[in-house]
Amino acid sequence: MTRRNFLLNAALATGATLAGAAQAQTPAPEAKPKTLVAYYSWSGNTRALARHLADALGADLLELAPVTPYPAAYAACLDKAKADIAAGARPDLKPLPDLSAYDAVLVGSPNWWGTLAPPVCAFLETPALAGKKTALFQTHGGGGEQRCGRDFRRLTKGEVVSAPLIVAGTRAATSREAAAKWAAALPL
Ligand SMILES: Cc1cc2nc3c(=O)[nH]c(=O)nc-3n(C[C@H](O)[C@H](O)[C@H](O)COP(=O)(O)O)c2cc1C
Repeated sequence: MTRRNFLLNAALATGATLAGAAQAQTPAPEAKPKTLVAYYSWSGNTRALARHLADALGADLLELAPVTPYPAAYAACLDKAKADIAAGARPDLKPLPDLSAYDAVLVGSPNWWGTLAPPVCAFLETPALAGKKTALFQTHGGGGEQRCGRDFRRLTKGEVVSAPLIVAGTRAATSREAAAKWAAALPL
């Protein structure tokens, strides 16, 4: 072996060893948390926000659907919602998927009479949420958060990891950036 070849071989061998050592020391990438975005939406605003969040996080989407839908007419829906909230009603939901694989569940609700919509309350009491990270996102018609965040913390079986994302219903469709920013800051 010429001196030049020897030096080249030595350099290659050292390089390979260093590369191997660097590889051995690099910690394995952490598994991405599996996240579900679950929401109830009567007129589409909370659904739009939920889609932005699911896109930002690469999360699955679940629309919460009461077995008996709320009336399609606004005035009738207002009355039914008011009566249900006063009675602490928990409407039956259409079957939920298996939640066991999810590490985190983000939950979306419209503000109804200052609080969460009853289908969302029913979902929050699902025992399968226990031990999961949760956070609320909500839309509203001008009232803002009102009692939504407080009632969310009271009802959820999960661990609340963030302040809520609160978006005016009229802005939900165009809130992709705000949704992505909130999602990126979640300690998931
Ligand atoms: C039954 C009912 C009650 C509502 N109560 C309130 C309220 O107390 N405060 C508020 O800011 N908006 C209220 N709104 C407006 C909704 O929160 C708002 O339009 C929301 O974005 C609707 O979300 P959705 O399209 O996902 O159903 C109410 C709407 C309905 C249908």
